[in-house]
Amino acid sequence: MNLIGIFGTSGFAREVGDIALAQGYQPLYIARDQTELDAWSFAGTAILESEVEIYREIGFAIGIGENAIRQKVARRFAGQLKFINLIHPSATFGQGQRQIVEARQGMIVCAGVRFTNNIQVGDFGVFNLNATIGHDVIVDDFVNIAPGAHISGNVHIGPRCWIGTGAAINQGQGDTKLHIGTDTVIGSGSVVVKACESHSVYVGIPAKKIK
Ligand SMILES: CC(C)(COP(=O)(O)OP(=O)(O)OC[C@H]1O[C@@H](n2cnc3c(N)ncnc32)[C@H](O)[C@@H]1OP(=O)(O)O)[C@@H](O)C(=O)NCCC(=O)NCCS
Repeated sequence: MNLIGIFGTSGFAREVGDIALAQGYQPLYIARDQTELDAWSFAGTAILESEVEIYREIGFAIGIGENAIRQKVARRFAGQLKFINLIHPSATFGQGQRQIVEARQGMIVCAGVRFTNNIQVGDFGVFNLNATIGHDVIVDDFVNIAPGAHISGNVHIGPRCWIGTGAAINQGQGDTKLHIGTDTVIGSGSVVVKACESHSVYVGIPAKKIK
């Protein structure tokens, strides 16, 4: 079984480990420091981040849901490690779409995710359980789509956005994509019906800006 290094030791890292196992990899979890390593009590080996050098020939994934932290890890090891894509076998893709996702790096696509078609994606996206991504959507780098969130067609999700569990993003109108700005958070269960500003938090139905 091929080893894969997975940064992180949280519950999400273990879920990423499950995708790796489903793809025939043996996960090797990577703790940030000795405290994190000492707290590891699950199946699978964990090592310290300072030991990563020894394993530089294997592929890596980042099992960290927090977008800004995932980005920091990716930048710290850029050009040194190979970040592969982990795609659960139950994810489905429209025509030509799997190739578009596989051409990126560091993507985590969990069980039950559905991409339709003509979707552009950046790197290091997290697409959590049963999320759906509609046609003609653009998803920028380091985005996290939480479990069961639904992105309708013709939407643009800016860098490092976090779309909460069960949120729905309505479709853009005509040629205009509904735009969610950079670093914006959409609360769980919210319904977004119009564009959202950058660096903001929106919640509710319809979603309103609270921060
Ligand atoms: C949106 C969110 C980030 C806000 O967190 P926060 O900044 O700590 O905000 P607070 O908890 O202080 O809530 C602020 C207000 O918004 C309301 N609110 C928070 N989240 C809400 C939501 N999802 N829907 C509706 N209202 C919400 C709170 O009730 C509170 O209202 P009040 O001021 O009238 O009391 C968070 O509530 C959320 O939904 N996170 C997503 C969770 C998720 O999807 N996790 C995925 C794990 S994989």
